Amino acid sequence: MGHAPRIGIFDSGIGGLNVAAAIRQALPTERLLYFGDNAHVPYGERTAEEILAFSTAITEALLAKGCEAIVVACNTASSAALGPLRKQFPGVIIVGMDPAVKPAVEHTRTGVVGVLATRATVDGRALADVVERFGQGVKVIQQACPGLAQRIDAGDFEGAKTEEMLRGWIEPMVLKGIDTLVLGCTHYPLVRPLIERIAGPGVRVIEPSEAIARRLKSLLEEHALFSTSGSIPPAGSPPRDPAASQGLLACYTSGDPANFRKVLERLGLEDAPVKQGIWEADGSLKLP
Ligand code: DGL
Repeated sequence: MGHAPRIGIFDSGIGGLNVAAAIRQALPTERLLYFGDNAHVPYGERTAEEILAFSTAITEALLAKGCEAIVVACNTASSAALGPLRKQFPGVIIVGMDPAVKPAVEHTRTGVVGVLATRATVDGRALADVVERFGQGVKVIQQACPGLAQRIDAGDFEGAKTEEMLRGWIEPMVLKGIDTLVLGCTHYPLVRPLIERIAGPGVRVIEPSEAIARRLKSLLEEHALFSTSGSIPPAGSPPRDPAASQGLLACYTSGDPANFRKVLERLGLEDAPVKQGIWEADGSLKLP
């Protein structure tokens, strides 16, 4: 990449690419560097200590590449590591995923809301906190989905097994009256059409990628960290030429770059170059 990246984004795998796509939409001239830790997916079935160790090493590697802001595009890593990361890197803007319980509670008419997330997120403090803060008077059904992120990361977006797993979790929630379903893992929007088909037209599916992109944008504005190439279009300016944003996202994966490229194509991000990130024996991450 010709210029230093400014925003580092990471996830346990391909899930955070949705967030990267939303950020690219909101900030089309920013230089983004994405790391997918596909070698360690699923984070959702690991301990908080392991997730924190990976998240710390990834953040160090992204900062070493020149990033000035970090987006933890993974609910599981946000839940386990956001607080400690902010303490360890105090001068850095670090944005994390927040399960979208607040908008779901505002939207529900039946008073029953569902959340799909990884085991680690369902067991962690972050989800419990937002449910406590915003879930008053509403029933929030929290469903762990073991194995789902891994299947999605392996590229199974529509297969019979993925559908069967999703039906097993979503259909009982529909029977309990949910009219709103929160995707509390960044991998899950990749199977959103299937989720919507199973949940049916009476259930609105909510995921927070665009809200996270807006939050990042306002933090960059607040800290006067916008790129000099002019990220904020003046009011009334014509829509941007999508070609103008090409080349602003570069990716690393600790897994197989060829598989990673297939997901980029699916998300319309095929112009992004993909390189191999390497975990060293001492637990540090090398992004050559
Ligand atoms: N994409 C991640 C999340 O948002 C986690 C998937 C996993 O590695 O278990 O929670």
